[in-house]
Amino acid sequence: MVNNEWDDILYWENYKPCYEMLQELERKYGGDPANYDSWHREHYAYYKQTIPNKEEFIRRFEYYELHGKPHWIEGHHRTMNELTREELLDSFRHVTKENGAFHVEVSEKARQGWAAQHLAPYAEKVCSATSEEHKIMEMTVGCGVGTNAIVRSMTDKMFYAGVDIDFICAKNADAIGRYYGKNAIGICASLWNLPFSDHLFDVVCSHFGFDECREIPTILKEAVRVLKPGGRFVSVFRHNIWLRRHEIFEDYDIGESGALELMRKARLYTDFEQFDVLAGEAGLVKIDYIPFENWYLVEYRKEK
Ligand SMILES: C[S@@+](CC[C@H](N)C(=O)[O-])C[C@H]1O[C@@H](n2cnc3c(N)ncnc32)[C@H](O)[C@@H]1O
Repeated sequence: MVNNEWDDILYWENYKPCYEMLQELERKYGGDPANYDSWHREHYAYYKQTIPNKEEFIRRFEYYELHGKPHWIEGHHRTMNELTREELLDSFRHVTKENGAFHVEVSEKARQGWAAQHLAPYAEKVCSATSEEHKIMEMTVGCGVGTNAIVRSMTDKMFYAGVDIDFICAKNADAIGRYYGKNAIGICASLWNLPFSDHLFDVVCSHFGFDECREIPTILKEAVRVLKPGGRFVSVFRHNIWLRRHEIFEDYDIGESGALELMRKARLYTDFEQFDVLAGEAGLVKIDYIPFENWYLVEYRKEK
């Protein structure tokens, strides 16, 4: 099985047929989780039909390396300007206290279960205030596990803005903020072009977000731009992305080291070694690194 987050890279050269295929799958299977397997099977068949061998797979990565851009083509994510009237009306149920309660429940299970070790220091670092009106920006809200850990720890004087390119994911931050009665909002925007002025935030953070994003150097540049001088960048990452992304590479007979090399070329996150170099190039200085079994928490400071 493959995940359609690869489409932007593999079909960058000519996206239209891939887009039409996705539209067709949406018409046939969209909206019903019972059809998830059929959706994936047909999507996978499309990969095998249009990218028949390893050489073609690698050629597409090389094309992306040279011509790819930090720009959203399409995918399963719904941006603001794609919303229909019905979806907009439906989205109001995503900002309710009830939806907040749902996401808090799921996130609390994580905070007290698999994420117990790292979420406490993550939230502590993010909420450690250096100014009277501590302003936090979280990159990638997703389903809100990181958001919940932060927002529940915030004092009433703190402000949180969570950014996600997916409108509904961004709204999860509104719902969690409403649940706790804190100053938290979700903003639907791309991390490649943040809708904030320079030097606005005390902390920029992310919880397993970079592992799913394209164009890491551009995202880092934006993170540094919106941070105050001396502001901090706090993030949780997997040690190595191979376990999450191995399936498509194995399908094309490419092992771990070959896959990591291709991903670096395509400016995707691979591991701490690579991220640390990119962070240094963007103007961040490492101040802490805490390893856990499968992931790590890292903290940087923006040079003054
Ligand atoms: C794995 S989830 C993040 C997990 C989340 N932080 C949590 O703790 O539950 C990744 C999110 O990144 C978002 N994303 C991917 N690329 C993005 C981009 N360029 N700009 C903004 N959000 C993006 C996706 O929409 C998705 O919601």
